[in-house]
Amino acid sequence: MKLVLCYGDPSKMFDIQALAHKLEVPWFSSAIDLPEDATHVLWVSTHGIALGKVGDKMPTATSVDFLNPTLLYRLRTSGKRQGLGKAVGLDKVAAPTVLDATAGLGRDALVLAYLGCEVLMLEKSPLIHILLEDGLKRAKAAVSVLLNKAPHRMHLLQCDALQRFAEIKQGTATQPDVIYLDPMFPTRQKTAMVKKDLALLQEILGVEENFANLLQAARSCAIHRVVVKRPGNSLSKSLPVPTFVVPGKSAHFEVYVNSSFSSSR
Ligand SMILES: C[S@@+](CC[C@H](N)C(=O)[O-])C[C@H]1O[C@@H](n2cnc3c(N)ncnc32)[C@H](O)[C@@H]1O
Repeated sequence: MKLVLCYGDPSKMFDIQALAHKLEVPWFSSAIDLPEDATHVLWVSTHGIALGKVGDKMPTATSVDFLNPTLLYRLRTSGKRQGLGKAVGLDKVAAPTVLDATAGLGRDALVLAYLGCEVLMLEKSPLIHILLEDGLKRAKAAVSVLLNKAPHRMHLLQCDALQRFAEIKQGTATQPDVIYLDPMFPTRQKTAMVKKDLALLQEILGVEENFANLLQAARSCAIHRVVVKRPGNSLSKSLPVPTFVVPGKSAHFEVYVNSSFSSSR
């Protein structure tokens, strides 16, 4: 992949210089100046930051837009019995703290925050972190009643989850009630919009190579449970058997229980 930055508005020139420095990639003031070997472009405009393949038009690029009507619909229909809510324990306790250790584009974190959870999102890729940070900033500024103040319950750190787990073990970071893992598994079946975005993420980031390690470390850090989202319906043959499974349409949630919620509240 050869990433370049491009800005669509002169007022964004300072932003793009800072981003280019952070990602250590070149920047350009116009799409027609892009080098021939550029494969992906990060567009910075007054509408926000979007990632696309060179040749893609802005509307098909990937950005974090928490005010997207499809996402807002998912929020309105995501009651506490929805798979994700049930998996993190919202049928047992009002608002567990959740460490979303593989935040990606923040959609699952948004659902959890909408349902009342304080969510700390970790994202190891500096590029995806930039998209997520931008989307979160815009959502916080939008003051939409439809979001139920969810963006204000979402917190973001750019770091590898393994590093955070090590800090939790050392006692220098807070132990969350629940750790949520949605790594890049090889096959995923999703709606057209999510499918396109996740396909781009997979192209850029590759698939998770050592999920067993991540799961083991997460299980030693969560107070109550670790939740793993997996595509399809079948359980992994190589991972430990979960305590229980919450089924879903295109993905299911595997739940590893450390202690019941009633044991500490
Ligand atoms: C499938 S995406 C998550 C999608 C997310 N659940 C959503 O709703 O948008 C997986 C993300 O996890 C991130 N990731 C994978 N391993 C990680 C780790 N060890 N620490 C932090 N982030 C990680 C990847 O960079 C990628 O952005």
